[in-house]
Amino acid sequence: MMKTLQGVLAGIFSLLLLSGVAHAADVCIECHQKLSPGQVKDWQISEHAKNDISCSACHGEAHKNAEDYKLAVLPDEKVCQSCHEEQFTQFSHGKHNFGWTSLNAIPATHMAPDELIEGGRGCGGCHNMGIKTEEQKKELASKGYRYQNNSCDECHTRHAFSKKEAVNPFACQQCHMGYDHPQWEMWSSSKHGERWFAKKHGDLPEGAAAPSCQTCHMPDGNHANETAWGFLGVRLPLPDDKQAAADRVTILKALGVLDPVTGKPTPILDAVKAVRMAKLDQESWQKERDKMLKICSQCHSAKYVKEQLDMGDSIMIKADRLMADAIETVAALYKDGLIKKPAGYPANYPFLLTFMHTNGERWDKDLDKLSYIDQVLVQMYMKHRMRTYQAFFHVSPDYAYWYGWNEMTKDLGEIKELAKTMRSEK
Ligand code: HEC
Ligand code: HEC
Ligand code: HEC
Ligand code: HEC
Ligand code: HEC
Ligand code: HEC
Ligand code: HEC
Ligand code: HEC
Repeated sequence: MMKTLQGVLAGIFSLLLLSGVAHAADVCIECHQKLSPGQVKDWQISEHAKNDISCSACHGEAHKNAEDYKLAVLPDEKVCQSCHEEQFTQFSHGKHNFGWTSLNAIPATHMAPDELIEGGRGCGGCHNMGIKTEEQKKELASKGYRYQNNSCDECHTRHAFSKKEAVNPFACQQCHMGYDHPQWEMWSSSKHGERWFAKKHGDLPEGAAAPSCQTCHMPDGNHANETAWGFLGVRLPLPDDKQAAADRVTILKALGVLDPVTGKPTPILDAVKAVRMAKLDQESWQKERDKMLKICSQCHSAKYVKEQLDMGDSIMIKADRLMADAIETVAALYKDGLIKKPAGYPANYPFLLTFMHTNGERWDKDLDKLSYIDQVLVQMYMKHRMRTYQAFFHVSPDYAYWYGWNEMTKDLGEIKELAKTMRSEK
């Protein structure tokens, strides 16, 4: 008896619920079908549509007509969290969650036009990764930018919000490519990538081993990604070898993390720490490395892969010898007054975090004061040193030598030559 009553009540309730949902969705869809049919179609093929998660579940119901569209909620990650707690929590513990904050911690960001940051193209197009604080959202709004409130749609693009799409390494390509982090180019041309594509084309059997970005960086669908070295390729503790330790200190000075005169940490170190831009103790570095070794060992012998990753570490030390030599050459020009310290620089020393804005100014100021030799130094660090070691980790022979080591050597030659000319012209 109770059971039937409950059943009837539940039936009525879900009927009411369904008709409510259908009604709200109809209104939105009716109008938007005419306005933006592709978008509506995309939603219709999604799991959300199949599960009656309508437009208003994410955008609210306040906006009802063509005039009041600014009342529509542009949903942030917390809206997704309300139904996908697990992925949200994982994401918030991973490195992707720092994309926006680390972008804003870099002086170069504040020297570029706003379109390239808040506008969501350039730096901001890739760094729209990470849950924004209320303060960060206010800043966006105050500059007149309304979108870019969600990072879940960076891999599960709207409005299909598909899992299958995100499992495809193409989902990573837009951001992990190009100048300073060509993981896409390196992976896709490596044997790992070659196999993945061959398998996709049906030229290798279904069971063939072919690791994608996700195999190594999102094992078991875990949204909390992180690596041992990370992007900057520096860490603590310093290496045991004296020269290698001195070289890393030189690089840390050029990153503005250590004061070039006192050798003491600067406030920039706190920013680096806050977003885990570098590992500052052996333990946190080793934890990520051990996880990766375990992943490689699914398909290779443990000894084999340890040797492969150790080589990535040792090439970094050799690359740092070239890098430190170049930094010291440019630093000597500052010391001897051949390059004048830009007002915004933390010290009378080269500063890599302005990127190519080597006058230390916003993009529209003092353009005749850009220091060219400093630009070559930034390129050596950002483009060629990155490639040298990232290529070892992504098994790319060509990037390791020709686009990496070879180009670093060339940059060093150019820096020495420029320094010589600057001194002789003085
Ligand atoms: C009578 C037509 C109409 C109805 C009904 C309607 N919309 Fe819209 N909506 C618009 C127009 C017009 C715009 C502005 C589009 C443009 O500029 O191209 C808009 C914009 C939006 C935007 C983007 C807001 C922005 O800031 O860019 C969202 C999100 C949206 N609608 C969702 C909904 C949802 C959800 C519903 C149902 C609750 C709905 N709309 C109902 C006409 C409508
Ligand atoms: C699962 C959540 C979700 C659902 C369901 C959803 N949207 Fe969206 N929508 C988003 C997100 C996330 C954004 C991006 C917000 C931002 O950029 O800040 C967005 C952006 C938009 C925009 C503005 C950007 C653009 O590309 O035009 C419109 C318009 C829009 N949605 C309409 C709709 C309509 C119409 C429906 C129903 C057919 C719908 N949305 C269903 C999450 C959703
Ligand atoms: C009101 C609840 C609700 C909200 C809000 C919501 N989802 Fe979903 N989502 C679901 C349901 C239900 C499914 C289908 C069952 C499942 O896979 O859990 C789903 C499925 C998915 C899937 C898997 C699709 C597939 O191909 O298997 C993804 C990815 C996803 N949602 C992402 C998002 C994102 C991103 C947001 C925020 C912009 C969001 N969802 C907001 C309820 C929601
Ligand atoms: C094509 C996409 C893209 C563009 C454009 C881009 N970045 Fe990045 N950025 C990334 C990716 C991807 C990473 C992570 C790379 C890695 O770890 O190898 C990253 C890493 C970083 C990091 C290091 C974060 C950390 O915690 O290690 C900083 C800082 C940074 N970018 C700043 C910038 C600035 C400033 C700009 C513009 C002047 C910019 N990026 C432009 C994609 C981009
Ligand atoms: C076979 C496993 C594997 C695959 C496949 C793979 N990576 Fe990596 N990735 C690594 C290893 C190993 C490291 C370095 C880990 C460390 O620091 O110990 C790394 C590091 C990274 C880093 C940090 C910076 C760097 O390059 O050292 C990013 C970002 C990254 N990978 C993204 C990607 C993307 C995007 C793809 C796909 C295009 C990809 N990876 C494919 C194993 C892999
Ligand atoms: C870096 C890319 C990336 C981002 C960003 C991302 N996801 Fe995913 N997501 C994936 C991948 C890859 C999978 C498939 C995992 C697997 O192997 O099962 C996935 C799976 C999912 C699923 C389906 C889970 C299942 O097994 O049915 C949901 C739901 C989901 N993500 C929600 C989210 C939400 C919410 C966010 C934002 C907090 C988000 N994702 C951000 C890559 C991403
Ligand atoms: C919208 C751009 C974007 C997409 C798409 C994207 N990433 Fe990233 N990724 C970034 C940025 C930006 C960072 C640096 C975050 C930070 O500041 O710490 C990053 C960092 C990483 C890191 C951590 C490197 C470290 O510092 O340890 C890994 C690993 C990574 N991404 C893998 C992936 C994989 C795998 C995919 C695809 C499933 C993917 N990413 C998709 C932008 C993106
Ligand atoms: C899902 C299985 C799988 C995973 C995980 C995997 N690999 Fe591979 N790897 C392969 C296959 C298959 C090949 C191509 C066949 C071969 O050369 O052995 C390959 C090739 C290689 C090669 C080139 C070998 C040569 O002789 O040219 C290196 C180096 C390598 N992998 C290192 C690694 C490292 C390091 C990791 C972890 C970061 C890793 N692999 C993770 C399957 C995998």
